[in-house]
Amino acid sequence: MYAGFAGSLVAMVSPSTSPGRSAFDASDRSALRRAYDTATAGLEAPLAIVDLQAFDDNLEMLAARANGRPIRVASKSIRCRYLLDRALSHPATAGVMAYSLPEALWLYRNQVSDDILVAYPTVDAAALRELAADAKACAVITVMVDSVDHLDLIDKVLGPGHPPLRVCIELDVSWRPLPRVHIGPRRSPVFTPREAATLARAVVARDGFRLVGLMGYEGQIAGVGDNDGNAVKSAVMRWIQRRSAAELTERRTAAVRAVRAIADLEFVNGGGTGSLETTTEDPSVTEVTAGSGLIGPTLFDAYSRFRPRPAVLFALPVVRKPAPSTATLFAGGYIASGPTGPSRQPSPYLPSGLKLTALEGAGEVQTPVVGRAARQLAIGDRVWLRHAKAGELAERFDRYHVVVGDKLEETVPTYRGEGVNFG
Ligand SMILES: Cc1ncc(COP(=O)(O)O)c(C=O)c1O
Repeated sequence: MYAGFAGSLVAMVSPSTSPGRSAFDASDRSALRRAYDTATAGLEAPLAIVDLQAFDDNLEMLAARANGRPIRVASKSIRCRYLLDRALSHPATAGVMAYSLPEALWLYRNQVSDDILVAYPTVDAAALRELAADAKACAVITVMVDSVDHLDLIDKVLGPGHPPLRVCIELDVSWRPLPRVHIGPRRSPVFTPREAATLARAVVARDGFRLVGLMGYEGQIAGVGDNDGNAVKSAVMRWIQRRSAAELTERRTAAVRAVRAIADLEFVNGGGTGSLETTTEDPSVTEVTAGSGLIGPTLFDAYSRFRPRPAVLFALPVVRKPAPSTATLFAGGYIASGPTGPSRQPSPYLPSGLKLTALEGAGEVQTPVVGRAARQLAIGDRVWLRHAKAGELAERFDRYHVVVGDKLEETVPTYRGEGVNFG
């Protein structure tokens, strides 16, 4: 239910107009276009940029919304060490939420953080062995479990007497208002405080594990916009999110109390970019997670509570004019993960007044765009686009060009540019 519902509720609406420190008024799209074109004039497109002022503004916005709770930075939504380092240098952030154990080990080896939570269970035997062989890594990295089967697998891979691994239990924080109705991501089988306590007891009863955290990601609030331009859908979404947040505060608080009676938890992690307001209302949560809010992809345009600035964009060159009203761009088919549909396509951003065609969408090698601005585009011009999600564009480009105003500051590698790929 979640995926289809979420997919239908997330839409692309107008771009950022939030105030910031940028030298360029973000609402003045032609000024932005001139700035980005000037900064990258000496580079060949396709290329991707980070608007550093937009990124920093987004960081400040997240810090304000986190209401004093430390923000763990979701690396999957960044996938660029330069940007991770920049986010982690802000006093409002603490630690990384990694998406795979090999990634966590790589971040640890590169000294990105000394507190890395792998937010998804791992069955990677080689990475588990690498972790267990390094006492310092074992002190820095926390792995996720949601069942005794995960403990069994780790024991089987590492054998008896393995060094203690830091473990976090994932709680299912979806909303189940009625039998067989599940609103939220399908993640953990641990739903009730009693189930959380049972698993906590199993962890502490075993040698080789140290229970340090509890995590729950309320994707039905954090990852689904409540302001997609359709008044009815938005009202329904707001109602669901209010109800879900109220139910969750009670259940998560009870689960945390039950687990704390068994183990001395270092942290209780919750939320994501879209839910900072409600997650921080829950007194049992000690830290929040955010990543997408730093980048400002199109899926995060549809929230009433905040509006990140588009901080990462990519430029494609116009290579053809098949008709006066159509400009065809090179490449561009960078479709985002999730329930596929229009919301997962990239969006033409600059100049304003362009859209993809329904028949071709964003193509493997060619992307036609139409709309009033297409008539003004000539072969060799650039169109700036936004990705639907925050981190996946970094899997398409080796480098991000760091732009401040209309200046190119430096060029930094993405994960892909560093030759690493973690799934
Ligand atoms: C466990 C977990 N926490 C938090 C987030 C939120 O990340 P972001 O702020 O980048 O949307 C996610 C996203 O999927 C997640 O899986």
